[in-house]
Amino acid sequence: MKNSFRLYQTHPWLLSFLFVALAAQHVAAQTAPPPLLLGAAWYPEQWPESRWNVDLELMQNANIHVVRVGEFAWSTFEPEEGKYDFDWLERAINLAGQHGIFVVIGTPTAAPPAWLTQKYPETLRVDENGQRAEHGNRQHFNWADPKYREFCRDIAGRMAKRFGHNQYVIGWQIDNEYSQTSADEGTRKQFQDWLKARYGSLGNLNTKWTTVYWSETYSGWSQIPIPKNGGIDSGNPGLLLAWRRFVSETWRSYQKNQIDVIRPNIKPGAFITTNTMGWFKAFDHYTVEQDLDLAAWDDYIPDGHIDPAGNGAAHDLTRGFKEKNFWVMETQPGFVNWAPVNQSIEKDGVRALAWHDIAHGADAVSFWQWRSALNGQEQYHGTLIGADGTPVPLYPEVKQIGEEFARAGSVLANTHVESEVAILHSYESRWAIEWQPQTIEFDPVEELVRYYRPLRELSQSIDIVPPSTSLAKYKLVVAPAMDLLTDAESKNLMDYVTGGGNLVLGPRSVMKDEENSLQTNRQPGPLVPLLGGRVERFYATKKVFPVQGAWGSAEAHIWAELLSVESPDTTVLMRYGKSNGWLDGQPAVITRKVGKGSITYIGMCMDDAGMQHAAKWMIDTAGVQTPLIKVPAGVEASVRYGDKNAVHILVNFSSTPQTITLPAPLDDVLHGGMITTVQLPVYGVAVLNAKR
Ligand code: GLA
Repeated sequence: MKNSFRLYQTHPWLLSFLFVALAAQHVAAQTAPPPLLLGAAWYPEQWPESRWNVDLELMQNANIHVVRVGEFAWSTFEPEEGKYDFDWLERAINLAGQHGIFVVIGTPTAAPPAWLTQKYPETLRVDENGQRAEHGNRQHFNWADPKYREFCRDIAGRMAKRFGHNQYVIGWQIDNEYSQTSADEGTRKQFQDWLKARYGSLGNLNTKWTTVYWSETYSGWSQIPIPKNGGIDSGNPGLLLAWRRFVSETWRSYQKNQIDVIRPNIKPGAFITTNTMGWFKAFDHYTVEQDLDLAAWDDYIPDGHIDPAGNGAAHDLTRGFKEKNFWVMETQPGFVNWAPVNQSIEKDGVRALAWHDIAHGADAVSFWQWRSALNGQEQYHGTLIGADGTPVPLYPEVKQIGEEFARAGSVLANTHVESEVAILHSYESRWAIEWQPQTIEFDPVEELVRYYRPLRELSQSIDIVPPSTSLAKYKLVVAPAMDLLTDAESKNLMDYVTGGGNLVLGPRSVMKDEENSLQTNRQPGPLVPLLGGRVERFYATKKVFPVQGAWGSAEAHIWAELLSVESPDTTVLMRYGKSNGWLDGQPAVITRKVGKGSITYIGMCMDDAGMQHAAKWMIDTAGVQTPLIKVPAGVEASVRYGDKNAVHILVNFSSTPQTITLPAPLDDVLHGGMITTVQLPVYGVAVLNAKR
């Protein structure tokens, strides 16, 4: 391999041609995609057709087995209204297939062509200052506009009819990274109609939103505005929430408009997805993902520094959308071009990250992008091939990932993550805090990750799921900042506890109801009787307060709630020390056993050391299984389970080499043989197979 790499460095073209013969043999046997897929975003329309074969050979040589195509190519598919050209894509897909490369087709609707937006300007989105977008970028369309939807339906339907049964096309991606909304008059009217359908009468809406406040009372539906600036600095909380719900449902119908013409025209088993952006919060992903087969996200590390807990939590969030394995539809080949400093991931880090993706339940890792277009907005972004068409220094590392995916594929096929611990996440709660943060230092996602970090280390597996989901299978459910819960969600949590589950509520829990109104029974709202205690007062703080008790000594910062105990069997676990006077000596954490289960309220943001103790207590109290393989700090351990096997994936994200002693001999999937000790260099990876 070393020799071939040297040859490749000096004669890059030669080697790619040498692989053709090998590839042809391989292709003959390739009828279904391998279980673990390595991929790249490929834009054949940006290159002369004579180049395609070389690119595909280079991909094949790197063990790339999937390309995503078609995204943004509308002006090539339909250069004039009603004049279509899909032949080139058919040739590109079939050529890819001949190289053992399967295809995901992206619908091009994130980039409508100039003829379309010029002739039908209503398809362009309008910002909150009334400014209509212009052509020349992407995402300039109006997601609510009926005319735009007609065009989307037409192009997506034609593509599905043409390629839906192509043997190499395994999936469909709708649009790209939904994000931009529109504040035009047509959308405003749709929003008002949506409100009418939801609230029935203005009287009901006025009551639910308490519009007597500041004389906000509406006497006609047409008076209701679209909130400005996403509502961050203005707007009635009920209105803000309703708008985001409308936005989410409008993305869902935007997507469904395309699903409805794609689904009937594609072969059974082909999936439909869209690519989301981690914690992106402008719409409720749980609403939008309902109609998809597969969740997929674009995993970027803009500063080049991998935080396995932060990135792992985003994976687990995405896995939670469909509560099953997902795809990393885009990831960076080294670096991006849109951060303040686009630092590269270090050598071997890209491979470590790819295995971290798989460890969290990804079945595909696809790089954005294969090669930079010679012009266009993203020239500096990382790629696998340079502007000269030959591999960049990262290419051999990617090739290694591909070889390892091939080696580990059969062991990891049909395996998935099984967690005993769930962390609850809700967009509505995040929005509620975002609109009225009380302290800009409280970030709901950071707070969630503060819980995630020590819990993940102890349990090696966490699901991140919405509060509406079925919770019975979890031994421990942690809800870090569920500021807003609907009555149904509150009931779901209470049923979980009375059914024997262990629920831990974090600070800022259940302050608001379904309309973003204050709960009338203080925090945690309907859960107060079950907890046998409540929040008497909340305090934002720039100071750090000492806390002591069953978890030792800790520090409260950012947010501290004064708790009280109302039931004789509710006990105080931690108390504030001398702090702001109000909190001195008062309960900071309370807990109550409920049958076989328990409910606990943590009323403050705690320092990392305190969180470690808290996490240990939670894991012990809930009886969460201790992991088979003990790893040192900085090594991430994960497990994927099949019916008969358990695959342990270890990735060393620490800055020193690590040696790990296994509790029993395990099968070393990447190198072969049974081993009892694992040596991991920095960014080293081990994949270990065990019987279940
Ligand atoms: C997003 C988009 C891609 C590309 C990358 C660059 O994820 O989906 O088209 O712009 O960002 O990082």
